[in-house]
Amino acid sequence: MSSANPQGIQAFPDALTDPDAWLEPFDWYREMRTDAPVRYDPSRNAWDVFRYEDVKRVISDNETFSVNPRIAADFEPADEAGQDMILDTMLFQDPPRHDELRDVVDEAFRARAVAEREPRLRELVDTLLDEAIAANDGEFDLVDELAYPFPVIVIADILGVPADDRAQFREWSDSLVAATSGESGDAIAEQQQESLQEMGMYFLSLIQDRREDPQDDLISRIATAELSDGTPLPQQEALGMCMLLLIAGNITTTNLITNAVRCFENNDLFDELAGDEDAIGTAIEEVLRYRAPVQAMTRIARTDVTLGEESIDEGDRLVAWLGSANRDEQKFDESDQFIVDREPTEHLGFGHGTHYCLGAPLARLEARVALSALLSRFDGLAVAETDLSPTRSSFVYGVESLPLQYSGTNDLT
Ligand code: HEM
Repeated sequence: MSSANPQGIQAFPDALTDPDAWLEPFDWYREMRTDAPVRYDPSRNAWDVFRYEDVKRVISDNETFSVNPRIAADFEPADEAGQDMILDTMLFQDPPRHDELRDVVDEAFRARAVAEREPRLRELVDTLLDEAIAANDGEFDLVDELAYPFPVIVIADILGVPADDRAQFREWSDSLVAATSGESGDAIAEQQQESLQEMGMYFLSLIQDRREDPQDDLISRIATAELSDGTPLPQQEALGMCMLLLIAGNITTTNLITNAVRCFENNDLFDELAGDEDAIGTAIEEVLRYRAPVQAMTRIARTDVTLGEESIDEGDRLVAWLGSANRDEQKFDESDQFIVDREPTEHLGFGHGTHYCLGAPLARLEARVALSALLSRFDGLAVAETDLSPTRSSFVYGVESLPLQYSGTNDLT
């Protein structure tokens, strides 16, 4: 098995390589919280961190832990030309550069700016559901028809790229979050290089267009941005920003919607939640805790540090298991129960601190709009009998497809 790849995406620990184990990693997390809350895994050359307080510290103590994969002691550029696959983005930069980069796009993702998009989001979901109803007879795949296309179209809209290119976006972003462990690891890594290059060329030409002819969209804002010292945002960082926004918000939001439907079905909540958007909003927070779409984030130790009872060296890699922190019994009562009205305000589903998810308000709105439309439009909604396969990634958590069936539809009011 390969160790963490240069993007900071770690390969699976042995306990989770089996797809069924990765579908339900929560018993393993519990064992680890008890028996090995901070443990070194030689096969991945990384430390795994499982308890809530430790995970929170690792992802938010910027002085001790860095997001920059290039400072890892075992870091190697991916090819002989010295190229690596790390995007020049805020996700892989520590302050102060991080803050400069985040400032360029921060305003577009604040709750108020996002709320203005709500009518357009509702329209989009209605259209997608109309298409799903028209194309099928009492059954459709939630991922293909709604949970995947919806966030892609939304971010394409915000950025200002043609929505027609979304099939291409799917290929690129799926390829970039894919796990590089196992037998086909090298082939996947090669595919990732190709996707990054293609996507880079695509955005580069858009950025150049918008520099010459700015529009009222986010690519234009990024293409013409100036940093605090008055210099233009370097092209590589403009490019990294566009790519990050496209990748970060897609499969994650897809999985939030899909994981929510699984939680609601398992707890028989479709009827109870239908028509109650506030309750759906609260339930989404519990989904972010209970089946977090991002289960793990990586960091590099900037200094020698003691965590739990373990001594970690400068340059060591750490994997902070958000999905385990969210189930920590020391933090959440009845942590392995899905409690729909729990309001778990301190879950780590969107991270914590400096790198707290930029897209959280957008993702929450997208999920609320999608789920409320879904529960209101269909009668007799149920997950069809199926074998679930996990998302092909070692940090993004969800299922590849989720067939739904229904007995009737309700007209839009
Ligand atoms: C349910 C959906 C989402 C989940 C679960 C999620 C999760 C996360 C997490 C856990 C982080 C922290 C990374 C770290 O600490 O290293 C993060 C960061 C980030 N997310 Fe999201 N995300 C979601 C949706 C989105 C969307 C819709 C966007 C934008 C379109 C987005 C953009 C970003 C960006 C730019 C960062 C980096 C922030 C920084 O470094 O300051 N995310 N996300």
